[in-house]
Amino acid sequence: MEIKLLKIKNFEPVLPIIQGGMAIRISTGNLAGAVAAENAIGLIAASGMEHDELIREVKIAREKSGGKGLVGVNIMIAATECLDLVRTSLEAAVDLIFVGAGFSKEVFKIVKESGKNTAIVPIVSSAKAAKLSLKLGADMVVVEGTEAGGHLGTDRPMREILKEVIEEINGEIPVIAAGGVLYGKDICEVMKMGASGVQMATRFVMSDECNADRKFKEMYIEYGNRETVKFLSPVGYPGRAVPNAYIDRVEGGEIKDKCKHLCLKSCSRRFCIIESLIRSQQGDVENGIVFAGARFNEIKDILPVKTIIRNLVSEIKNCSEAA
Ligand SMILES: Cc1cc2nc3c(=O)[nH]c(=O)nc-3n(C[C@H](O)[C@H](O)[C@H](O)COP(=O)(O)O)c2cc1C
Repeated sequence: MEIKLLKIKNFEPVLPIIQGGMAIRISTGNLAGAVAAENAIGLIAASGMEHDELIREVKIAREKSGGKGLVGVNIMIAATECLDLVRTSLEAAVDLIFVGAGFSKEVFKIVKESGKNTAIVPIVSSAKAAKLSLKLGADMVVVEGTEAGGHLGTDRPMREILKEVIEEINGEIPVIAAGGVLYGKDICEVMKMGASGVQMATRFVMSDECNADRKFKEMYIEYGNRETVKFLSPVGYPGRAVPNAYIDRVEGGEIKDKCKHLCLKSCSRRFCIIESLIRSQQGDVENGIVFAGARFNEIKDILPVKTIIRNLVSEIKNCSEAA
């Protein structure tokens, strides 16, 4: 199948592959820049970063990209510092701001009023949210299904929601499919349904450039004969992760953290999600939460980003044109 490049706003067309944002510090400038260098879209997860750190990571991504592709950020609406992160991202002149884990009209207003050439891309899990996003001026929407890793906005499969969103958006802006996309054949399938591209995260965890500790990546392989689990995050949404003993302790009510970060606008305080994510990112994977998409157990190798993207491109080219 011929690869149809993705055109957003007045940016140069790029490969229709987005590396999804992964907090806390799992997707940083090094990963986003390596993805952009392949003429795709790399995202830094801004949530949990201070102003100077985010500016630095955007600079790293830009340098690494060699001016190719696009560099963006992913910001959780549920985060206390969400609007500050949006302003910092605009100051850093990122190409795109992806927003998930909630909805905020204020974010659209800040981005539009900045007058900058920054695209605003909400992550949605329903046709209703996609319609509202279009009305507020979204430049593109990501449809994320229940197969995704991290916090989930739905228990419905991506393809089901994708169909409804494509109908609702009716070609006005690009629609991106996220959740359970691993191979070129998955990309061909959703593009034949009318998607303009894909957002993938779990495959990129298993890259050399991903900023998670080696033990985080090796856990995907070690637990590769198991299925992911869903747990209720203090954010108020379910989260999908590798099924370790820590999640059992969380579910059994054994973990009692004191809140040190005040990182969420609304938090159940059942346990500290940010500490759990920091510990696993740093390699203490048995005492933290290791977010993963439902198909994590199909990935058996840690590869350079360049190889991952070039494999995807050649797999897409090998798909048949027939729907
Ligand atoms: C380790 C990990 C961390 C994630 N963190 C975030 C996040 O901070 N914000 C967000 O919007 N999505 C987050 N996600 C979701 C991804 O950006 C992406 O949309 C989703 O995982 C796509 O499905 P896939 O992993 O099956 O490719 C995360 C996913 C993973 C695997």
